[in-house]
Amino acid sequence: MCKPDAVERGLVGEIVSRIERKGLRLVAAELRTADTALAEAHYAEHAERPFFGELVSFLTRSPVFAMVVEGPADNTFSLVRTMVGATKVDDAAPGTIRGDFATITTENLVHASDAHESARREIDLWFPGRDLAG
Ligand code: CMP
Repeated sequence: MCKPDAVERGLVGEIVSRIERKGLRLVAAELRTADTALAEAHYAEHAERPFFGELVSFLTRSPVFAMVVEGPADNTFSLVRTMVGATKVDDAAPGTIRGDFATITTENLVHASDAHESARREIDLWFPGRDLAG
């Protein structure tokens, strides 16, 4: 997902282009503004964190570009996570999306599922009834 900061900064094309140049394929995508319920469900695993409220406000402040990305093998989530870079921007290596374009961890441009199970859960949340989760 290109988060609100990525859409606001006009980086969606750059991010999609990197995904496509890698050899991955978009199978669904939508620009939409998440409501609080969707943002809270998306970040449910962080509900107890002190920054949860900030995270939900950030995700709902303007549209995100939600995507389902497919690759030739069953490691697509891992490939995308590597391209995205470390969550903490100080640790995000040059060449990664966050390493090249993000300066603060709260506005780190992209969210990427960290496992098959979270990918399935997140695809069902953002694209309900579409049978895209594989
Ligand atoms: P994301 O990969 O979307 O998953 C959880 C998000 O929480 C993460 O990206 C960061 O944007 C955010 N995050 C992580 N650590 C902190 C923190 N210490 N303060 C605020 N936000 C954080």
